[in-house]
Amino acid sequence: MASKTFARTLRTASKQKATVPAISRRTFVSAVATRPLVAASRSSLAPPSQQQTRGVKTVDFAGVKETVYEREDWPREKLLEYFKNDTLALIGYGSQGHGQGLNLRDNGLNVIVGVRKNGASWKEAEQDGWIPGKNLFDVDEAISKGTIVMNLLSDAAQSETWPAIKPQLTKGKTLYFSHGFSPVFKDLTKVEVPTDIDVILVAPKGSGRTVRSLFREGRGINSSVAVYQDVTGKAEEKAVALGVAVGSGYLYKTTFEKEVYSDLYGERGCLMGGIHGMFLAQYEVLRERGHSPSEAFNETVEEATQSLYPLIGANGMDWMYAACSTTARRGAIDWSGRFKDTLKPVFNDLYDSVRNGSETKRSLEYNSQPDYREKYEKELEEIRNLEIWRAGKAVRSLRPENQ
Ligand SMILES: NC(=O)c1ccc[n+]([C@@H]2O[C@H](COP(=O)([O-])OP(=O)(O)OC[C@H]3O[C@@H](n4cnc5c(N)ncnc54)[C@H](OP(=O)(O)O)[C@@H]3O)[C@@H](O)[C@H]2O)c1
Repeated sequence: MASKTFARTLRTASKQKATVPAISRRTFVSAVATRPLVAASRSSLAPPSQQQTRGVKTVDFAGVKETVYEREDWPREKLLEYFKNDTLALIGYGSQGHGQGLNLRDNGLNVIVGVRKNGASWKEAEQDGWIPGKNLFDVDEAISKGTIVMNLLSDAAQSETWPAIKPQLTKGKTLYFSHGFSPVFKDLTKVEVPTDIDVILVAPKGSGRTVRSLFREGRGINSSVAVYQDVTGKAEEKAVALGVAVGSGYLYKTTFEKEVYSDLYGERGCLMGGIHGMFLAQYEVLRERGHSPSEAFNETVEEATQSLYPLIGANGMDWMYAACSTTARRGAIDWSGRFKDTLKPVFNDLYDSVRNGSETKRSLEYNSQPDYREKYEKELEEIRNLEIWRAGKAVRSLRPENQ
């Protein structure tokens, strides 16, 4: 898809983007107001209405009022004061452990890492400057030292290790998760939390690598924040403060249930599973109808990820339709309804499968097998060897930055 209008609009958009100042302390209003103005109606330019009190905002998202917390209300000095008597024991050093742990450390908080001594994470933590005996311990020792226990083990490992961890979560400690998985599906995971501790959640909406890279750029990732159990009356405030400390910019209030349902659903749908299925279907039809691998790949993945999706992310779908040729606009608007109607029953099946625990059961059973890494590697190898992704490798090698 290409047109003069499209190219011109892209140039306008990139010029406008270039004038946006560094976003380190950008407010919600300015973030919304820096949207490129192309083809937008006056009403769509109005920032969402909001009422602000210290520490909490009510933001009107398309007519529904929701609570959002922001980083601006938790400057570093306030965080240091708030957690001055706490030891944050971060258990697990995968993607989130790495991102959240390094951000906490850079924020100056008293954070220690707990991982098993013979595992890959121990070596990774050492490479990131965590020192054995000082701020790197095995899991049990870290939990015993922590006042706030941040359970960032894999979801399957949270269930496996729970019988050993639970007795160490004594009164006065706080239990933190980045996914509602373990407590919400407690019938399957057996993670029944002690009744005398605060249980909170901060779930960054992105990979731990992005949690880290946005923090280093002086920005923050969007996160969900929730309380499962509030014994002290301070659970929500603590969750928000921790959310900011680990690198969140905005924290959207939700519940453990809503977080886990939407997260499992999204990653199986538009974020990965669904989009991969759609890429494969479109690519295969193009190939079966005589198009070359490069043409099929460019028209399916390359143009999507390199041009259109970032623009949709920056400006919305209405903007994208307005920015493309009239030919593309007519066809895309017409076909979107048929895709939606065809896919909606699949999404409903998926939501049911999440809600009734089937996805959790599958994940626990599969990811608890001793050879789960090898099995995944075999599946990934098969995906890597699909023609579409081999073609993609060749296409990417021609990008200017890879020459
Ligand atoms: N990844 C994301 O993008 C993302 C985003 C938001 C929320 N979350 C949530 O954040 C939490 C952590 O996820 P993650 O992706 O960062 O980590 P992960 O890759 O799922 O888990 C890795 C950690 O679990 C440890 N582990 C695995 N099996 C273990 C066992 N039997 N005993 C002790 N440790 C074990 C690993 O240690 P070894 O190296 O020793 O095996 C490693 O430190 C999860 O609740 C996840 O749902 C993840």
